[in-house]
Amino acid sequence: MKRVFSGVQPTNNLHLGNYLGAIKNWVELQNSYDAFYCVVDLHAITVKQDPKQLRQNVLNVAKTYLALGVDPDKSTIFVQSHVPQHAELAWVLNTIAKLSELERMTQFKDKAKEHKENINMGLFDYPVLMASDILLYSPEVVPVGEDQKQHVELTRDLAARFNSLYGKTFIEPKPLINKEGARIMGLDDPTKKMSKSAASANSYIALLDSPEVVAKKISRAVTDSGTTIESGADRPALTNLLTIYSLLSNQSIKNIEKEYAGKGYADFKKGLAQVVTQFISEFQSKFNALDDNKVKKILEEGAAKAKVVAEKKMEEVKTKMGLL
Ligand code: TYM
Repeated sequence: MKRVFSGVQPTNNLHLGNYLGAIKNWVELQNSYDAFYCVVDLHAITVKQDPKQLRQNVLNVAKTYLALGVDPDKSTIFVQSHVPQHAELAWVLNTIAKLSELERMTQFKDKAKEHKENINMGLFDYPVLMASDILLYSPEVVPVGEDQKQHVELTRDLAARFNSLYGKTFIEPKPLINKEGARIMGLDDPTKKMSKSAASANSYIALLDSPEVVAKKISRAVTDSGTTIESGADRPALTNLLTIYSLLSNQSIKNIEKEYAGKGYADFKKGLAQVVTQFISEFQSKFNALDDNKVKKILEEGAAKAKVVAEKKMEEVKTKMGLL
């Protein structure tokens, strides 16, 4: 059975972009792939975290996967730091990764600007750890949003380089990026992606926002000049809102445009708030019903299954490289 691997960082609340750009695909893929979905806590510590909050966030991300439909009977759900081979392979891949290629990573450049006081080695090395996450499990596909494409391409380059130096060891995985939803933009600024670390909470809709907050954020969302409910290259704000509406309601953008023909922004925003609130309320009732101890058990079992695969791959790497 072909494999799929992906992960999310346990930093703050997950938002609609994380779901529409990535996790929505995971839920589909678990039906036809051997799926590994990871909570990447070692990535999260590349920016300063409060230990108590981090512990809670790790559990919350796992609960979010489950409440969004990732099924532990079909998928292996686990925490990155529970499988030490992730960090071990990262060290090995560091010896073939080039400074120049890591310096080109746009996410590093952005984060270095954002965290000027803490540009640590881990932040720079982040994409190599991500390559290790992926390559340990030999997945064919890695479902991610557009912003992670460059990292998956680096992963492919590192796999090919290792293979040519030491013999075929790794599969070169492909990024799986949706046509729609791969880059959900900020509600307050449609030129910037929706982000957990945005300066203003009005930028994103967190999956744990209350219905009142969701309605308020949508009513404040930036719109384009003009008054019609239409998407288009010159209408980034409406295109973004229509994309969210379309993906959550399973209707085409064309249909939604027809439904709102002759109506104004206020009507459209009311409709969008309804669609988002319904989705979020269903999600939250599943999230709140999850028992922390049961979730911890799922993560323990997931780590045990992931370890079997990761240990085997790491042994192969060591043998190929001549590590006794
Ligand atoms: P992270 O935690 O920032 O985001 C998790 C996933 O959500 C996607 N995403 C978006 N998609 C659409 N629109 C947006 N505005 C948006 N914001 C985020 C991301 O592309 C991602 O798929 N480095 C990764 C985590 C990671 C990983 C991995 C992913 C570590 N190891 C191995 C895949 C495979 C990250 O920071 O994602």
